[in-house]
Amino acid sequence: MILSIESSCDDSSIAITEIETKKLIYHKKISQELQHSMYGGVVPELAARLHAEALPKILEECKDYFPKLKAIAVTNAPGLSVTLMEGVTMAKALSLALDLPLIAVNHLKGHIYSLFIEKEEIFPCTILLVSGGHTQIIEAKNHENMRLLATTLDDSFGESFDKVAKMMGLGYPGGPIVQEKGLKGDENRFDFPVPLRQSPNIEFSYSGLKNAVRMQIEKLGENGLTEQDICDIAASFEKSAVAHIMQKIKKLFKTKNAKNFAIVGGASANIRLRTAIEEFCKQKGMKLYLSELKYCSDNAAMIGRVAVEQYKRADFTTIDDIDVKTRIK
Ligand code: KG4
Ligand code: ZN
Repeated sequence: MILSIESSCDDSSIAITEIETKKLIYHKKISQELQHSMYGGVVPELAARLHAEALPKILEECKDYFPKLKAIAVTNAPGLSVTLMEGVTMAKALSLALDLPLIAVNHLKGHIYSLFIEKEEIFPCTILLVSGGHTQIIEAKNHENMRLLATTLDDSFGESFDKVAKMMGLGYPGGPIVQEKGLKGDENRFDFPVPLRQSPNIEFSYSGLKNAVRMQIEKLGENGLTEQDICDIAASFEKSAVAHIMQKIKKLFKTKNAKNFAIVGGASANIRLRTAIEEFCKQKGMKLYLSELKYCSDNAAMIGRVAVEQYKRADFTTIDDIDVKTRIK
């Protein structure tokens, strides 16, 4: 079995995965969303302190599995350096104390493997990864051959929801709150721009849309926003945010074919996005794969699933070599 640790942002999570069967034996996650909500975003120092409290508590529940462990896996990049450090330090200590090899896992690969938890892999697959930190399209041919086809020039899809929620004082994380408000709003009341509409490039950008929303809020805000204003802004923003992704995906598939398509990452929970992609895949005759909702946001089960494959390839690191990286290409 492999014990995996995830602490790249605001979720403290540990999982135990059986190597041969890929079965998830144990999985627990403690989210810090509530503690960060009043700040309208993740406060890195607070997040690190909460990981330092939560991770040992979860680890205590795994003690009985220690004799069965063959490796310790941990997310080492990308993420917040102070929070990644909490997981990596725990992983180093466990690797030393139990004399087990250490596996460094890329968090983004983890999101892709959330599709494969207790399941076989789907290759080749074109994957849309939408999270708080990333908006990417990845071509995954097999375990080791993955190519980045598109990324964002500035903010990510999920982050734009977080920022729009913060502007309207709705708390964190913004995605679910903006989605809920949007369901009660008029998506045609505000004509927000669809980013990079004229650009032939397959890339994303959310800062312009975010600023258009900010200006609209300021304009209305002179007299304070009503509940209906909030719902209409949410619906109109979400419409443009999703239209942007769909335009770029449609552009991409003008020159490309694929059998399988998948959406992963915390923001893949977005209903409007899921529905639009479902329709598109149907039109194109592509099979659509979604990770289970409970595995969309950050968790250690997906890290453990990547680690199983790395273990089979003996893709190990050492306590001296493992490095925490905020960003990776
Ligand atoms: O993958 P994740 O848990 O953490 C990162 O690795 O970033 O994703 C969290 C992000 C947050 O920005 C959150 O607002 C967004 O996913 N999110 C959503 C929805 N649910 C979560 N964004 C849009 N619509 C949603 N329903
Ligand atoms: Zn994530």
